[in-house]
Amino acid sequence: MWSFVRSVSLASLIASSVVSAQLSFVASIQQAGKDVEVPNLDFIRKPAQGHRRHASRNHHGYHQDNKAEERDVTSYSSNWCGASQHTTPSDGISNIIGYFTVPDLKLRPGIPAPQFAAAWVGIDGAECNSTLLQAGVTTIVNSDGGQSASAWWEWYPEASFTIDGLKVKPGDWMAVNITTKSTTAATIVITNSQLGTSVTIQVNNGPKLCRQDAEWLVEEFYDSGKQVALAQFADLWFVDSEATTVGGKTIGFDSATMVALQDDDGKVLCQGEPYDNTNFVIVSK
Ligand SMILES: *[C@@H]1O[C@H](CO)[C@@H](O)[C@H](O)[C@H]1NC(C)=O
Ligand SMILES: *[C@@H]1O[C@H](CO)[C@@H](O)[C@H](O)[C@H]1NC(C)=O
Repeated sequence: MWSFVRSVSLASLIASSVVSAQLSFVASIQQAGKDVEVPNLDFIRKPAQGHRRHASRNHHGYHQDNKAEERDVTSYSSNWCGASQHTTPSDGISNIIGYFTVPDLKLRPGIPAPQFAAAWVGIDGAECNSTLLQAGVTTIVNSDGGQSASAWWEWYPEASFTIDGLKVKPGDWMAVNITTKSTTAATIVITNSQLGTSVTIQVNNGPKLCRQDAEWLVEEFYDSGKQVALAQFADLWFVDSEATTVGGKTIGFDSATMVALQDDDGKVLCQGEPYDNTNFVIVSK
């Protein structure tokens, strides 16, 4: 069995950057679970802009209504919609899994193209101020309605890496599985379930995680310091998805915080809606 392993040295990728990154990773690609050779597997580094970080209306990733005792609390964010779950510092998040579709976009009327939506799962996007480990897909829709999508991963505040060589298109079912081996090491597996192709990335020396919360979401992310225009999108389900703690506790969507994205005028653009403990849907408005 031929095993393909590509090692990417961040130091060489960011030779001109001032970031003194120590993060390193090795990656491999699997077809139906078996290592294969894909000559064009590559990771395109994007500047560490801090986009995809949850911007907030207060100092947290979201603020809560005063209904903490209710199931499926609704919160509001200025840049994301979906679900968030929390754990105690003594039993941190060790794994998050999300099965979801690549955003299928439609132009939002009255707003210039191109428009975007990113769907991803992550650890520490809400309450941990220093870092965020995330992987998912971004779709762009142009003025003629044409779409293109790409998969990526990012360990904020380090750079984001677009995965060249993993084909994705709107509507494809994806599986993202992030496992933390420690607060600074993780394995990310991104699978296009439609094609049976997975990319496995083993990362070391990442920024220290809090492992406090887990998120499944759609984001109106930042690019070059500016928030992109959020397109409308087909209902985006997360199915059979969950997080697991270091102590082995399974965390689903029961009692998750459902988050709605509200623009500056108070208009809701998308929101997480509860379904059951392992499934929920993000609805575009
Ligand atoms: C993040 O920052 C906020 C506001 O400064 C603070 O209240 C909160 O405790 C911080 N969270 C962590 C995990 O440090
Ligand atoms: C998630 O990834 C971890 C680490 O690679 C692996 O041990 C685990 O079996 C995966 N889980 C699923 C559901 O694929």
